[in-house]
Amino acid sequence: MRMRRTYFIGFILLVWILIVYLTVKKHQIVVSDKTDQVQNGLQQLETGIAEQFKINKNFISTLHSIIEAKKLDAIKENEVSTKKEFKGTVIPILVIACNRISVNRCLDQLIQYRPNPDQFPIIVSQDCNHPETTEVIERYGSQVLLIKQPDQNEIDIPPKEKKFRGYFKIARHYGWALNQTFFNFNFDVTIVVEDDLDVAPDFFEYFLGTYPLLVKDPSLWCVSAWNDNGKIGLINEKKSELLYRSDFFPGLGWMLTKNLWQELCNKWPRAYWDDWIRQPEQRKDRACIRPEVSRTKTFGKIGVSNGLFFEKHLKYIKLNEAFVPFTKMNLSYLMKDIYDSEFVRTVYQSAVVSYQELKDDRITYDGSVRIIYHTREAYKRTAKLLGLMDDFKSGVPRTGYKGIVTFHYKGRTVYLAPNLNWKGYDPTWS
Ligand SMILES: *[C@@H]1O[C@H](CO)[C@@H](O)[C@H](O)[C@H]1NC(C)=O
Ligand SMILES: *[C@@H]1O[C@H](CO)[C@@H](O)[C@H](O)[C@H]1NC(C)=O
Repeated sequence: MRMRRTYFIGFILLVWILIVYLTVKKHQIVVSDKTDQVQNGLQQLETGIAEQFKINKNFISTLHSIIEAKKLDAIKENEVSTKKEFKGTVIPILVIACNRISVNRCLDQLIQYRPNPDQFPIIVSQDCNHPETTEVIERYGSQVLLIKQPDQNEIDIPPKEKKFRGYFKIARHYGWALNQTFFNFNFDVTIVVEDDLDVAPDFFEYFLGTYPLLVKDPSLWCVSAWNDNGKIGLINEKKSELLYRSDFFPGLGWMLTKNLWQELCNKWPRAYWDDWIRQPEQRKDRACIRPEVSRTKTFGKIGVSNGLFFEKHLKYIKLNEAFVPFTKMNLSYLMKDIYDSEFVRTVYQSAVVSYQELKDDRITYDGSVRIIYHTREAYKRTAKLLGLMDDFKSGVPRTGYKGIVTFHYKGRTVYLAPNLNWKGYDPTWS
């Protein structure tokens, strides 16, 4: 009996052990199953996340390219529309006339070369009440608009300056005529020429092409058709598309905006307006665009400024002949931000030579060169030797930019330049 009980307990124990074993085993299987499942799940999640990440990334980059494309479109559209807008701008030519009946020479050329009379109306402003000149202008009928400076009163001039009466009359006339153009006729911009100028075939194209620069770049205040050193032998005639920035106000066929006139009209001087405009108070560090080859040339030697200067210098200025399609060209290189660093880099990378080496053609390498000047006297001496204009106005040499005068000599570009540590113009240099 005892034996049977022992067997029974043994059996129960065995069964229990078996049950426990099986349960534990099953549990183990479940646990490991669950671990596998979790691991699998994790893996799937990881892959999923990675995939989603990839998709997101692609999506974001697609979005980026769409935005970039839209931006580019907008820029392009803007460029096109500003180009269109600028292309249609009406730019009147203000011809300053007095008593020269040869004004017809200037008017004939302007009428011959202007591509569109509606876009480039010609206003002839006449001073001096000279009937013969009036008659010449009136012959053009509706091709030009004649206005007459009404104030013919004697100007009160200090005794010492009596011989400069002409300069007082000119300043009065300019002031009145510009006021008419901007405030009476309400134009946004104008090109001023005097009655003794020949103009180049691409005169209008030049001003129309550079007009957007004048509007967009606040460090520009004029575009001029004139190179003060534009004599044959000092220019590269084959590079008539070449343009520069200049700290020197050249005049002689120049474009200004109404904004500038609003700034100047209330302090316009009684005389010597061109020297006045070159003073630092007026210029305010602004520059003009000027061409390598002039788009104007003065033909009159009888005038207020003396005839000697014409015989010695102005007579030899080269008037451009080749037509340059400026409105179709990218002129952004003239914007201050782009131009300045490039210009300074080019100038100061150029090899230093002496005047004599240049003159004797003793330079063996190609490319531009630089002649250094430190003093006013050194500048004037070298300029004279080379046939450059040697004068300063408010300390600025003619065509100078950052103190550097650029010209072309014996087949290469030459920079007459101060030291790299140049501190600005000295108004006492004259
Ligand atoms: C031009 O017109 C303005 C506004 O009428 C006037 O204040 C200014 O003195 C005029 N300037 C000249 C130079 O005539
Ligand atoms: C125009 O020239 C500027 C400066 O040289 C340059 O950055 C720009 O890409 C050019 N634009 C076109 C449309 O070629």
